[in-house]
Amino acid sequence: MQKQTYETVSELYRKYVMKTCNPHMVLVRGKGTYVWDINGRRFLDFGSGISVCNLGHCNKAVAAAIKEQVDKLVHTSNLYMNLNQPRLAKALADHGFDGISFFCNSGAEANEGMIKFARKWGHDQGKYEIITMADSFHGRTLATLAATGRAKYRKGFEPDMPGFVSVPFNDLKALQQAVGEKTAAVMMEPVQGEGGIIPADPEYIRAVRQLCNEKGILLLFDEVQCGMGRTGKFFAFQNFDVEPDALSMAKAMANGYPMGAFMVKRQYGDVLQVGSHNSTFGGTPLASAAALAVIDYMDEKKVLKNCGKQSRYLLRALTEMKEKYRFITDVRGLGLMIGVVLDRPAGELLPKLEEHGLLALSAGESVLRLLPPLTVSRKEINKALAIMTEVFDQV
Ligand SMILES: Cc1ncc(COP(=O)(O)O)c(C=O)c1O
Repeated sequence: MQKQTYETVSELYRKYVMKTCNPHMVLVRGKGTYVWDINGRRFLDFGSGISVCNLGHCNKAVAAAIKEQVDKLVHTSNLYMNLNQPRLAKALADHGFDGISFFCNSGAEANEGMIKFARKWGHDQGKYEIITMADSFHGRTLATLAATGRAKYRKGFEPDMPGFVSVPFNDLKALQQAVGEKTAAVMMEPVQGEGGIIPADPEYIRAVRQLCNEKGILLLFDEVQCGMGRTGKFFAFQNFDVEPDALSMAKAMANGYPMGAFMVKRQYGDVLQVGSHNSTFGGTPLASAAALAVIDYMDEKKVLKNCGKQSRYLLRALTEMKEKYRFITDVRGLGLMIGVVLDRPAGELLPKLEEHGLLALSAGESVLRLLPPLTVSRKEINKALAIMTEVFDQV
């Protein structure tokens, strides 16, 4: 094979890959918090593949579990049980709430299934409407697009799938007014990710739980981005002292191996019956082995503790930066899901940070989004802060 260079890869990409994204870098290797590009340049990765490689790139324990399983059994279909999937479902219940899981492959698919669950639950009562939040993001399938509050993602794909109503986030009155006879569920991200790292107001989210109880409707949490330890708790809802009736997750579940799931409380365990929903690749022995290795690693290495500790340090340092740089208007977030709110598009700063060796993300229109691995060290945070200082000094 001809030696691959930046030029040969990007030529092939431009010619053969659909232009739904616009990447400008070729990454070839990753280890922990670092990735290397095709020219051998090293970058600190404070995006973690958009909250996926939460245990760092090529985590050894996850890699070992995948390597071991890949030689035993990769896929069987859900016509058969495998050794890993039930253990994974139990581990999720142990770390979340007493309930049962459905396994799939992505965040959109997890949300799609959770929406189907809510519709099926409401069906015989004539309830099908799902209230979702402005600025939310739930995925790119037609149902999850209709649930998504951020209108730009839906543009060009109208008409929207019916049955979704959008209300402003953190606004209880608006939600109370939107609930009607046809409402089956309220769906939200406990911490909005794509919308700009916006945590739910704790009083609001508790009042929403109360409202759902009073009205007899379901509360659905999308924890695709904020789950799996990202906010310092295993699930983000555990920061707020409220439990949802169903919860979706994906991204970091298997640290980069594609996997998604949604869980429902045990009392709703028979809403979806045999034949009502399925996914060919959901919960394969291989994906489940990877996800089990993630949970074991998180427990054994006390990853949540590190997340909390590094979060406090990083948030404090960023808050100090806010005093120094007038273009920073707010610093917010939970755990290592952090937003630095700017008075300008965050996209203006990303290339400069990258030039200095730091990969970060944007969210909303003007939020610099930092999602380092939960295993990040103090030294790596200090390095990222030094790069930010260097770049911010020139703004
Ligand atoms: C909160 C949330 N839900 C759903 C999704 C969709 O996940 P996926 O891209 O795996 O389909 C995302 C992706 O960014 C997300 O952040």
